Amino acid sequence: MNNFTGQVVIVTGGANGIGRATAELFLELGAQVIAFDREQPESDAGIEYVLLDLGNLPGLEVAVSNVMKKYGRVDVLVNVAGVSIPNTIIELESDKYFTTLDVNLHAPVFLMKHVGAIMVKQSYGRIVNLTSIHGKLSEPTSTAYDVSKAGLEAATRTVALEFAEHGVLVNAVAPGFVSTRMSIVNGQDELESDWFKEIYIKNKRLPIARPAFPIEIAQVIAWLASHSNTYMTGQTLTVDGGLSARF
Ligand SMILES: NC(=O)c1ccc[n+]([C@@H]2O[C@H](COP(=O)([O-])OP(=O)(O)OC[C@H]3O[C@@H](n4cnc5c(N)ncnc54)[C@H](O)[C@@H]3O)[C@@H](O)[C@H]2O)c1
Repeated sequence: MNNFTGQVVIVTGGANGIGRATAELFLELGAQVIAFDREQPESDAGIEYVLLDLGNLPGLEVAVSNVMKKYGRVDVLVNVAGVSIPNTIIELESDKYFTTLDVNLHAPVFLMKHVGAIMVKQSYGRIVNLTSIHGKLSEPTSTAYDVSKAGLEAATRTVALEFAEHGVLVNAVAPGFVSTRMSIVNGQDELESDWFKEIYIKNKRLPIARPAFPIEIAQVIAWLASHSNTYMTGQTLTVDGGLSARF
């Protein structure tokens, strides 16, 4: 069992989906949890919410510095927040492209910079970035999302190399299908659609024939972020029910 008693954990996107499950799990495991999100759930259940737009990059340094003023350390950073705005390359609008890159890639990179500086001084830290099977596999209409996730996997490797000698381990978790509101596209939950059931469940394209629950992703994040992880860094761990194991 991972124990985070006395540790300070920042989770972005902690108001919903995978981020919410991750924040709740760290709380249950004893951590002080600070969630950076532009939304706040009705019940905070002991999680401290900091309302901000991750696309506003200068605001990130201020938010991290406020956490330091209050708690004096940061042990874990989990970059979960993300957006997906499907568009073909012909229809791609520059503002949607740059929003996707800012939230999914640039915010995690600059949070690694600001929080990483603290972790290096502490000689301890764990960083986990949420990417996706889209970091390596593609589908039409997801250029911006695919670029953001592939970029974040590259940044995970590079930062891991820079921080390894300082006791700071940096990894990524790449989910496949997860039951969250992100699977609702144009008002329809794609995980409930006939085509999803036909292709992925009935035809066994998805070996574990169901989407993941957010807690199943959070548990992998928690291990990577724990003291139990002493030797894994610079890696992307795919957690997709076997989806990418099949060609
Ligand atoms: N759901 C899936 O099937 C799936 C699959 C692979 C990867 N992922 C990745 O997992 C991560 C979490 O996704 P999810 O499914 O939990 O999504 P979600 O929509 O349920 O949660 C995303 C959270 O990010 C926050 N957020 C988005 N933009 C923000 C901004 N500009 N400023 C502050 N907060 C912002 C939202 O408010 C929300 O709380 C994302 O990075 C996503 O790309 C999800």
